[in-house]
Amino acid sequence: MYKEKILNLLRSSRSGFISGEELARICGISRTMVWKHIKSLEREGFGIEAVTSQGYKITTMPDILRQGDIRPGLKTRVIGKAIHLLSEVASTNTLAMEMAANGTPEGTVVIAETQTKGKGRLGRKWISPKGNLYFSVVLRPNVPMHKAPLITLMGAVAVASAIRTQCGLAAGIKWPNDILISGKKVSGLLTEMSAEQDRIRHIVLGIGVDVNMEMGELPPEVRSLTTTLAAEAGAKINRIALLQQLLRDLESWYQKFLKNDADILEEWKKLNVTVGNRVTVSGMGESLVGLAQGVDNEGRLIVRLDDGTIRTVAAGDVTIVKK
Ligand code: BTN
Repeated sequence: MYKEKILNLLRSSRSGFISGEELARICGISRTMVWKHIKSLEREGFGIEAVTSQGYKITTMPDILRQGDIRPGLKTRVIGKAIHLLSEVASTNTLAMEMAANGTPEGTVVIAETQTKGKGRLGRKWISPKGNLYFSVVLRPNVPMHKAPLITLMGAVAVASAIRTQCGLAAGIKWPNDILISGKKVSGLLTEMSAEQDRIRHIVLGIGVDVNMEMGELPPEVRSLTTTLAAEAGAKINRIALLQQLLRDLESWYQKFLKNDADILEEWKKLNVTVGNRVTVSGMGESLVGLAQGVDNEGRLIVRLDDGTIRTVAAGDVTIVKK
């Protein structure tokens, strides 16, 4: 608690020094205790300059997510009501699904710095080195089960919008929910659901965004298909500000989804980079080639095959065939 307070005091006087005596007086602790907390902050990665007769000053901040940094300025009503921040977890989705089954409130967010068993779509792994964002949001929408796929599209719209707003990058959506920049994947979404008959009990929307990781962290076979926000922007991205924007956009698009899901499809269509292209769709035991014509009201991809047959696809992997 004192460490957090000292950190906040140092941060609010970032331009100048603040003396150990002053820190001790404000916190109501001894100067030795102040010194111990300063050492502990240094161990966490903060660069702190100490100058005799002037005091302490923060020089560099570590790229770590801290509860105390996420909440201020978030201003959401539902999403992020409870935030569970972990340095490592098997999968934020798996943990969020467990928490949801145990009654955690809607809007609970589980975030981790790394995942040891990150899950991707279609049973794939999601490699999760440090420097990116990995989080899952618990939702309890009161809508029939056939609307569930629209929640994934809603998540993709929110992620693409947040990246556009926060990083100024032209993020687009490849069906159903890959976020691409310049044709390379920068984010993916995985939705898991618990339901009974036609009622959704809860949905966990899992989001992975490649933000600041080194590309060398990825296996060579996916490297050429992937990018990071930092690589696209040409500078490191502030993960806290991005996370806050993501949570804010998720909240506003989720509210829109609950009011009128047609708004989601309309926005998804604007951001999508699939429709109008010749595509290969694979992953459901067959591979289709044709023109991606559109999406139906439930978010399924409509493909016109070369013989004119129309096929509607609920799940799969799309590759855009280069013209
Ligand atoms: C995809 O295959 O594109 C979906 C990737 C989803 C990854 C995220 S990272 C946070 C959450 N936890 C997981 O285990 N997976 C999702």
